[in-house]
Amino acid sequence: MKFPLSKYIWFDGKLVPVNMAKVPVTTHAIHYGTSIFEGIRAYWNSKNLHVFRLKDHIKRFRNSGKFYNIKLNFSDKQIENAVIDLCKKNKIKKSCYIRPFYFVGQYGINFHVTQKAPTHTAVFAFPFGDLFNKNGITATISKWRKFSDMSTPTQAKMGGNYLNSILATQDAKQKGFDEAILLDQSGNVSEAPGENIFLVKNNELITPSLSSSALDGITRRSVITLANDLNLKIRERKVSKKELKLADEIFLSGTAAEITPIIKIDKKKICSGKVGNITKLFMDTYSDIVMNKNENYSHWLTTVY
Ligand SMILES: Cc1ncc(COP(=O)(O)O)c(C=O)c1O
Repeated sequence: MKFPLSKYIWFDGKLVPVNMAKVPVTTHAIHYGTSIFEGIRAYWNSKNLHVFRLKDHIKRFRNSGKFYNIKLNFSDKQIENAVIDLCKKNKIKKSCYIRPFYFVGQYGINFHVTQKAPTHTAVFAFPFGDLFNKNGITATISKWRKFSDMSTPTQAKMGGNYLNSILATQDAKQKGFDEAILLDQSGNVSEAPGENIFLVKNNELITPSLSSSALDGITRRSVITLANDLNLKIRERKVSKKELKLADEIFLSGTAAEITPIIKIDKKKICSGKVGNITKLFMDTYSDIVMNKNENYSHWLTTVY
């Protein structure tokens, strides 16, 4: 995978060339996954660069660390400025992905992580187009189950948690599918490795509730708001595996995936293998919003220049 990293990275309060942002191999996070990250997108609409729901991402960023008592050394405003300054310093005039993260630094081999554990914070960015084919992707129900809150908090975006996503992705790709769908510990639908999932049945939207170990995705929240605004019925509830195959339409939502249709699950075509009308409506609405073409949602955008 090409990784055209922008020239400068924001590291512990300073903008430095990428090769200057370094940590020792004894860094705690490398050994134990004690890192927290966010994934944010910014969209270039030929006039300006707009960061999507920046404040909401920063809020989740801070909250993720609280589950583990890992401290973020910077205020929300400082992180917000870091994101904006990073885009400006790199003169980014293309749609891009922005990755803020913080992690435990030199802390020996100690499991007893407290507020005293030293942390580093960084933000980098790179130009980013579509993650998936927007004409629809294939998915398989994974043999790997989503971890539950009884193992690690599902609402914390911790580096270590993503080993579960990596296993599910490896399994799906190895079987020739584009993406995995994970069931929760009880066998209900949870989410994809890095996306939430929505089903459409009889013109009603359904998404697994957060109690099915799904992340409280910011795109998921946006879809729920839009559904209400569009007067479409939307329900958050347990979703059985069987319902997936009986759905009229299915789509994924996520910062990286945006709105991506699923047109086949295992051997079963969804919506005759085509992008469904409701999915298309959400794809178009979302795309207009992020490009600042819908002023009803311009409060979701932070302008860079
Ligand atoms: C496990 C998981 N689920 C869902 C999502 C989608 O969340 P968001 O819409 O906030 O990007 C992500 C991405 O952050 C994720 O990592």
